[in-house]
Amino acid sequence: MTDQISNTELQPHLQSHSNLMDKVYRNQRFIYNASRKYYLLGRDQLIKELSPPPRGTVLELGAGTGRNLICTAKTYDDCELYGVDISQEMLKTAGKSIVKAGFENRIHLAKGDATNFNAEKAFGVKEFDRVFISFSLSMIPEWQMAIASSYELTRPGGQIHIVDFGECKQYPKMFQKLLYAWLSIFHVHPIRNLPGQLKEAANKANCKVTVKPLYGGYSLQAIIQKPR
Ligand SMILES: C[S@@+](CC[C@H](N)C(=O)[O-])C[C@H]1O[C@@H](n2cnc3c(N)ncnc32)[C@H](O)[C@@H]1O
Repeated sequence: MTDQISNTELQPHLQSHSNLMDKVYRNQRFIYNASRKYYLLGRDQLIKELSPPPRGTVLELGAGTGRNLICTAKTYDDCELYGVDISQEMLKTAGKSIVKAGFENRIHLAKGDATNFNAEKAFGVKEFDRVFISFSLSMIPEWQMAIASSYELTRPGGQIHIVDFGECKQYPKMFQKLLYAWLSIFHVHPIRNLPGQLKEAANKANCKVTVKPLYGGYSLQAIIQKPR
């Protein structure tokens, strides 16, 4: 599978971000799925609501260990899946897990940057029925560009699904402070007023967006509908 991971060229200024992600995940990737299930909350809900059309195409930007792609392949048994990540280390784990799960013919991986991803070059597919971003926006310094890229990669009438950390407004202030401090160790920086910023971007792009808090605002889920 590692040989089958296509490699798109990174812009020179992104090499240091790619190196940083490799450093964060070089060892973490071995305990990632077991540990993250306790605090990356909302990923299964996103997958449940993806509902791609029959034989649809689904792309994950920032696919990590491939956990979401494998769950999506199990949930929707006729869709074709694609994942991109900037970390070669994460892609090594994703490649192995996908083969182990027997999905190497349906899940395709590429190394690339979510903010400027040429899917046609990597996969021979220009637009997807569903594009999703799960807990990756908060690790991408130029995350607005990842949103812009997701619009480009979604076909007319398709949807973009997002899940990420919320602002924990229903929790004691200290909880948010400790959580954010701990996340910053892993270079994760939850985005202030993400719902407002997503709504503004969707309005500009003439798209409909619904944003809902999950787990009392610990996470948030957004679905953006592109017009036909
Ligand atoms: C917290 S992990 C989330 C992984 C997976 N989506 C999940 O829900 O478990 C964030 C992932 O985003 C990737 N990432 C960070 N910046 C990226 C970028 N600019 N382009 C593509 N992937 C990126 C990291 O390498 C990492 O695998």
